[in-house]
Amino acid sequence: MSAMKFFMPQVNQMGSGCLEEAIIDICKLGYKKALIVTDKVLVEVGLVGSVVEKMGAKGIEAVIFDGTQPNPTCGNVEAGLKLLNEGQCDFVISLGGGSPHDCAKGIAIVAANGGNIRDYEGVDVSEKPQFPLVAVNTTAGTASEITRFCIITDEERHVKMAIVDKNTTPLMSVNDPALMVGMPKSLTAATGMDALTHAVEAYVSTIATPVTDCCAIKAIELIRDNLEAAVADGNDLEARENMAYAQLLAGMAFNNASLGYVHAMAHQLGGFYDLPHGVCNAILLPHVQTYNAQVCPERLAHVATAMGVDVAGLTAQEGAEKAIEAIKVLSAKIDIPAGLEVLGVKADDFPILTENALKDACGFTNPKQATPEEITAIFAAAM
Ligand SMILES: [Fe+2]
Repeated sequence: MSAMKFFMPQVNQMGSGCLEEAIIDICKLGYKKALIVTDKVLVEVGLVGSVVEKMGAKGIEAVIFDGTQPNPTCGNVEAGLKLLNEGQCDFVISLGGGSPHDCAKGIAIVAANGGNIRDYEGVDVSEKPQFPLVAVNTTAGTASEITRFCIITDEERHVKMAIVDKNTTPLMSVNDPALMVGMPKSLTAATGMDALTHAVEAYVSTIATPVTDCCAIKAIELIRDNLEAAVADGNDLEARENMAYAQLLAGMAFNNASLGYVHAMAHQLGGFYDLPHGVCNAILLPHVQTYNAQVCPERLAHVATAMGVDVAGLTAQEGAEKAIEAIKVLSAKIDIPAGLEVLGVKADDFPILTENALKDACGFTNPKQATPEEITAIFAAAM
């Protein structure tokens, strides 16, 4: 094992009611005017208004950018940056799930470093820390509120750019389950499976460490025990809170151990067909792990145990198969589509999807490096 670093925000607020604590901390840091990066749905349901009101009561002004698309684009980043500059804001708040957090990171990194968001594709390209960012999470899945990963769709090239940069780490993360009760069932399911994918990919990553392993396994256990309940009853605050912790732990794991081909391939599906990230991951996860079981069956057998399967007396290979089966069963129980075909994915597009998946930085830590033919075969199996 070589030298490792562990990245996460300086301060991480967790638990019911922690948003109030976060606003007090923001006041103490001396910030006066926020650009709130969010989406139209959260404005319509009144969540943005209630946060603005709470901040206003403490003397913090806000400018709202609600133009974030589900797969945030370079154009979204430019539009938000314009508002930040026009409003002379002194910090950024992202309010929502992965999309607003990623869009806000894009805005904050360009605000501090100049140029265009396309300039920062790749690993640690930026030179300066981003504009101060407080990430207030309303979903339980992406963990973008704590990570140095920022995924922006280049609408001209139809690709999702992976920006993996320590300077995109938010200053503070806020995971208040009270903000998550309004999440619809399908979003709860998709984001929960995204979190499971983070944990599994980080656990089998080539740069996993005992620290990331611990986070990944606990995340899988919490997802096993709480995801179905959170999907079945969105008002189950205990399940919501446990899923908030699960996704945070999975985020801590992948922020430091990185990911694998599930994400590298899902990014291409998301960028090409504008499909939901969590659903693409959920469908690809068992197929990529079937491929990975050739090289790390022991690790996947540990995943089976964390998923609640008794693997005593089984070979590592059999244990890995049990993990893959348990993932499929959980997906089916929460109504994740069984294959990519129903989402409109076309076999004719496999060559370009494969080419771009192999360039995605998330795949570099997959436990087995694949040929283009192997990636195409995984896409085909997931149809
Ligand atoms: Fe993800």
